[in-house]
Amino acid sequence: MSALVLGATGNIGPHVVHELIALGQTPRVVVRDADKAHTLFGDAVEVIAGDMSDPAVLDTATDGVDSVFLLSPHSFGMANVQLGVIRELRRSGIRIVKLSGTSSAITPDGPHVCRQHWEIERVLQESGQPFVILRPNSFMQVLVGQLMLGQLRATGSIINAIGQAGISLIDARDVGAVAAQVLTRHDWDGQTLELTGPRAVTYPQLSKLVGVYEPAPVVDAAPAQVRASLLQRGVPGWEAEHFLEMYELFAAGESAFVTDTLEQVTGRPPRTIEAFLAETLEQAGVAS
Ligand SMILES: NC(=O)c1ccc[n+]([C@@H]2O[C@H](COP(=O)([O-])OP(=O)(O)OC[C@H]3O[C@@H](n4cnc5c(N)ncnc54)[C@H](OP(=O)(O)O)[C@@H]3O)[C@@H](O)[C@H]2O)c1
Repeated sequence: MSALVLGATGNIGPHVVHELIALGQTPRVVVRDADKAHTLFGDAVEVIAGDMSDPAVLDTATDGVDSVFLLSPHSFGMANVQLGVIRELRRSGIRIVKLSGTSSAITPDGPHVCRQHWEIERVLQESGQPFVILRPNSFMQVLVGQLMLGQLRATGSIINAIGQAGISLIDARDVGAVAAQVLTRHDWDGQTLELTGPRAVTYPQLSKLVGVYEPAPVVDAAPAQVRASLLQRGVPGWEAEHFLEMYELFAAGESAFVTDTLEQVTGRPPRTIEAFLAETLEQAGVAS
């Protein structure tokens, strides 16, 4: 079975590609920066340089593949890009494995990016095309690795806008492992898989876990304060609104649910937040 991976050079894509390689595959990737792909993957992938919005690029890239991993960035126009890909693949018989968002937010009136995921999912499900939808919760690498630790470095504290609610954060590498299984087997065709980490963690708990390595005091804030600070930092209005609604949803405990889907698909338990933090802080030279 051969797979094309879109969005191969971001947070999730490299893990999908590396897991496919580990399964003995030679995945194909469509990338805007071929050098970046060669640096990440060496000769283990087939690189097609181009834009995933370009039908001619897609036509070449999908020639002979059985499945496409559909990921494009969190953006105002995400649905336009992804619906374009789905449209181009209509009647091709090629299976689409779509990366979506946290399950509880995928509603017609959900936060901006999530309601785009809702629309893309609906079109895909009704298209008659073979598909699998992956709905991961927030990635440890983004919410903790980039946002929370980034904030700690910049301000000396962690902003908690979700009170005592927990989020069952997932390691991006586990999302890649699930995607690779789904791209190389047919066991989950037509299904929507909700993917979570092993347990929900709150910000106060995260603060304690990081505190083993370095001080990480928590400062409470209302979601509206987060929106205001995002706007102040030049984040566009639609995106600040998206994050406000995401934090409100998290604060209501909507992303605390835990599933065992990841273990069922990969045959091993999800990575823990403790393991993620130890590796991340060791790499940063913080942990001894
Ligand atoms: N962050 C979270 O916690 C979270 C949780 C659940 C779901 N999600 C969903 O995950 C998705 C984002 O995944 P991610 O974090 O891996 O994204 P990302 O890091 O932003 O990576 C996006 C990838 O797409 C590529 N790309 C962008 N536009 C392209 C184009 N026109 N043609 C070809 N390649 C293009 C980028 O390549 P370049 O290197 O050229 O830029 C990059 O490889 C979103 O749909 C988001 O809603 C995120």
